[in-house]
Amino acid sequence: MAATKVLVVDDDLNIQRVLVFTLKQEGFEVHVASDGQAGVEMATAISPDLILMDVAMPKLDGYAATQQIRAAERGGARVPIIMLTAEADVEQRVRGLRAGADDDIVKPFHPLELIARIKALLSRSGGGTPAKATAEQPTMGQLYCFYGAKGGVGTTTIALNSAIAMARRFKRKTALVDANLQFGDMRVFLDQALETPSIVNAITEPDLDADLLKRLVTHHHAGIDLLLAPPNPEQADIVVERQRTDPGSLSRILSLMRRAYDYTFVDMAKTIDDFNLQLFDEADVIFVIMTADLSCLKNVRLVLETMDSLGYQRNKIQLVLNRSNAYTGINVDNAESALGRRIDFQVINEYRGAISALNSGEPFMSSRPDGPLGQSVSSFAREVDAQAGGTPAVAQPAGRR
Ligand SMILES: Nc1ncnc2c1ncn2[C@@H]1O[C@H](COP(=O)(O)OP(=O)(O)O)[C@@H](O)[C@H]1O
Ligand SMILES: [Mg+2]
Repeated sequence: MAATKVLVVDDDLNIQRVLVFTLKQEGFEVHVASDGQAGVEMATAISPDLILMDVAMPKLDGYAATQQIRAAERGGARVPIIMLTAEADVEQRVRGLRAGADDDIVKPFHPLELIARIKALLSRSGGGTPAKATAEQPTMGQLYCFYGAKGGVGTTTIALNSAIAMARRFKRKTALVDANLQFGDMRVFLDQALETPSIVNAITEPDLDADLLKRLVTHHHAGIDLLLAPPNPEQADIVVERQRTDPGSLSRILSLMRRAYDYTFVDMAKTIDDFNLQLFDEADVIFVIMTADLSCLKNVRLVLETMDSLGYQRNKIQLVLNRSNAYTGINVDNAESALGRRIDFQVINEYRGAISALNSGEPFMSSRPDGPLGQSVSSFAREVDAQAGGTPAVAQPAGRR
């Protein structure tokens, strides 16, 4: 196995020397870039296993360089980045994490501490030395939001059951985040106790890392991991407040989830607030769930306008028409022409399948995956997996037009 490649991006010659010496002694293959711009270029050219990134540099600073490296990854394989910051200033650290860094270390640092951080990060990300060959595989790291055009259209139903399909049928590591902070249903849907940890524990944890997050998610026997909503509305306020004062706290959860799972599905509440805007921002795709009725069409138009004004690319937002074959007087063509865009996916209407699952506490994708509704949601999941670069889709699956 080839030596682990570390890219050092720092303009200070003394630091370069110390780092090269220390890293080589540890058996790493070391490459050096002397400014942010060169760092971005080398990150693409040599595909390092880890990057050490200085903050203050000529041409492009460390934040901007990190952002560019992350943008070029497009949610694919993610190189661990450690920021070398000048001071233990919380703002700087948060800025680094928001830019997409995984960890930071304050200059001057002890070489042993740096090496320990590097090794910890490499073992988390699945890279590293031959001794770490058993470390976890890199994941697909996709983050998808599910947002209902109005309440009751089936957002939770589709997020939950397609997550199970991803895990069971397509063998993807999948997590589901219940971001209905005030009134999350997942505890009830999936029969989880009130004292089960939730997103409150994750967002208030100052030293959240992959191991800790693993302990805060709940494994469900249907094959997915859950990050539950707060157990009550008061605790929901804690989450909102924490995100407001430190958006990095939410970024950190999401980036740890990306690294641990192929797919992280987020079941969102309908509000458009800071918390949800950050989720939209960080998502790779936003599935807007709708039904074919006038009030939904009106809301979808508003949502599309909002997304446009946020500058999102068209294909970041994808429309999912639920209960597509229910008679509403508005057919798919009518809906598409009213919206001026196509509907990307459809899930059929099957009242009985949906309701029996609700009452039994067992999602239909787990109890009746081959029923009509199970098949329809599976087709949706298969298409989503194919577009993310997973298994190729079967020609013309039922879920997509
Ligand atoms: N495809 C479907 N066919 C029939 N009923 C459905 C379908 N999808 C959802 N439902 C039902 O609609 C209701 C609302 O679903 P839910 O997922 O809670 O919506 P939301 O999260 O958007 O509020 C539930 O009773 C659910 O069983
Ligand atoms: Mg819901």
